[in-house]
Amino acid sequence: MIVHSLADLARARGALPGTVGFVPTMGALHDGHRELIRRAREAADHVVVSVFVNPLQFGEQADLERYPRTLEADAAICAAEGVAVVFAPSVEDVYPRPLEVSVSTGRMGRVVEGAARPGHFDGMATVVAKLFGMVRPDSAFFGQKDAQQLAVIRRLAEDLNLGVEIVAVPTVREPDGLALSSRNRFLAEAERRTALALSRALFAGRDAVPDGVAAVLAAAQPVLDEASKADPPLRQDYLVLADPATFDPVEPGHRGPAVLAVAARVGATRLIDNLPLEF
Ligand code: PAJ
Repeated sequence: MIVHSLADLARARGALPGTVGFVPTMGALHDGHRELIRRAREAADHVVVSVFVNPLQFGEQADLERYPRTLEADAAICAAEGVAVVFAPSVEDVYPRPLEVSVSTGRMGRVVEGAARPGHFDGMATVVAKLFGMVRPDSAFFGQKDAQQLAVIRRLAEDLNLGVEIVAVPTVREPDGLALSSRNRFLAEAERRTALALSRALFAGRDAVPDGVAAVLAAAQPVLDEASKADPPLRQDYLVLADPATFDPVEPGHRGPAVLAVAARVGATRLIDNLPLEF
């Protein structure tokens, strides 16, 4: 069932007996989203998927307008995956008036990806808090693909005691390594070839884990450097080895978990990827 208004969502939600697993999305669903839905189906009695392109988390108007919108295909995927309710509100449904109160993500919302996209994590956390209030799920499913988003959401749920269990789902990749993303559809063939450097750099970094933090970055960076000379070129935003909970950079002698994260532009498309590592 697809619902648009908050009133229709409340009715549909009220009629679901047992537990509800929630998968928030911006639509243009692909096999990564499908994997989240499958995990949610296994864990909960019913699954609710939201499809909402949240203006509050976009910096550039052009990026917001360009974001793919494929609601009919999204609804068909949800139906095939046994989703109970697809919630596809309008901007007016979600933001009937300017917000007076919103979520501030603090330091971890301003580093790494947050430094490249000021305000992004505040806007993202605000809409997720609102969606949790609307859907009232028992659990919610987020992709490791957006590792810093996942870390922020974990703190959102804990720090504000939202009572929602946050479940992480590993990144789904194409056979050649490219992480699935709604933005991949913008990549021309040659751009896609260049974009493969993101995952190749991460895999090269992973192979160097036994040699420590500096070796991981030293192994990953040349792959990006090489791609910056390709046609079309890759333009690197960052390559960092960060603490997966805070996204602060890890120290040289670091032991324990870390995440190797990369962001780059190819043509007009900005791509991010990461790999969780253990030192
Ligand atoms: P969106 O980019 O549509 O992603 C929705 C969810 O799918 C996120 O949890 C994301 O991490 C996950 N996902 C995307 N690609 C994936 C992949 N290749 N493998 C596994 N999971 C993947 O993230 C958002 O929307 C928004 O910020 C949102 C949380 C909905 C708030 O507006």
